[in-house]
Amino acid sequence: MIDPAAVRARHADGPFLRACRGLPHDTVPVWFMRQAGRALAEYRAIRADHSFEEVVHTPELAAEVTLQPVRRYGVDASILFSDIVTPVQALGMGVTIKPGVGPVVEQPIRTPADLDRLRPLEPELDVPFVLDTVSILVNELRVPLIGFAGAPFTVASYLVEGGPSRSYTRTKALMFGDEPTWHRLMEKLAGITIASLRSQVARGASAVQLFDSWAGALNPIDYERYVLPHSRRVMDELADLGVPRIHFGVNTGELLGLMASAGADVVGVDWRTPLDVGRARIPEGVGFQGNLEPAVCLGPFEHVEERARDVLRRAGGRVDHVFNLGHGVLPPTDPSILERLVELVHREGEVASPVAARPEDGRSPAGQGSAADG
Ligand code: CP3
Repeated sequence: MIDPAAVRARHADGPFLRACRGLPHDTVPVWFMRQAGRALAEYRAIRADHSFEEVVHTPELAAEVTLQPVRRYGVDASILFSDIVTPVQALGMGVTIKPGVGPVVEQPIRTPADLDRLRPLEPELDVPFVLDTVSILVNELRVPLIGFAGAPFTVASYLVEGGPSRSYTRTKALMFGDEPTWHRLMEKLAGITIASLRSQVARGASAVQLFDSWAGALNPIDYERYVLPHSRRVMDELADLGVPRIHFGVNTGELLGLMASAGADVVGVDWRTPLDVGRARIPEGVGFQGNLEPAVCLGPFEHVEERARDVLRRAGGRVDHVFNLGHGVLPPTDPSILERLVELVHREGEVASPVAARPEDGRSPAGQGSAADG
């Protein structure tokens, strides 16, 4: 059995984890949301023989797909191949993932009685394949593994809408129409998210990202009342693990400060907010990640180069910047563009001066000796 603390210690000196902690390092770290799958021919080759669910449920395949972008792009972190709906799918909520569409839910949650169908997650029993994938990966990877989960609001939006949505009408109808049921749903989902993330860290994930992809559908006042308490609970209940917690959403320019206040160590900035503007909305002591527009990578590399340099310039050489796209890799992206982008960030991304000292600076690296290690 691999010792998760030893795994984290092995990666602690790398640029990704050091940037997440605001500690000095040499090169700007870079990874891409949704870097696995989609754009890669080697992923499509696997998908030709296996459904998405089969890949996720087969640790050897899920691990292979996680490793593909690390090999191809030379990124500084890997992200587990799974999905934000995998836990609720395992709990029998009737979730299927339709290629090109996203998660679809057969019997959506709309009434107080529907909530009874949602039981707590026991990761070792419900999603053992996810944990076995983590175990394979932490043994093989030369870069840290980021574990992830969907934040309660974003997972709720799929369960309530029954699938992807533009307006989140039904989600908001429940939120505004039956607030007690809404909070009970969010509490249950927060519990599932916490169990899922803790189990990934217990197997050796070095950092976690909480995807609240669709939180940008809310204004700050509603976010604070209906979402923040639950995301804060998730972050709080991960704090003792001592791994960096990244908090990301799309269209969240107005929510960045609140998302930091949930207890994040790093906040993701989507491409709609210039990175320096986003940075200014995140308190000192919290790092930032982003934010090249994914669609830029569909154009010629000369333009990608120009725009990536602009992102680096706006990041100002701060030690607490992690380079990423402002959202996930788009399926038609030419992988060679991403390969060259990583090279560019590593070559030109200069880390200037340390930012103000953080409370955890004096601590032992990467969660050594934390409760997750046992
Ligand atoms: O590198 C990685 O990030 C891969 C692991 C990963 C997947 N989904 C694999 C996947 C991660 C981190 C996710 C997170 C996820 N899933 C989010 C948050 C990130 C974001 O984009 O905001 C969300 C909102 C989902 C829900 C979901 N699942 C969507 C919107 C889709 C896309 C539908 C499509 O085909 O474009 C999925 C399916 C999905 N999840 C695919 C992959 C590789 C495509 C499935 C296939 O190969 O057919």
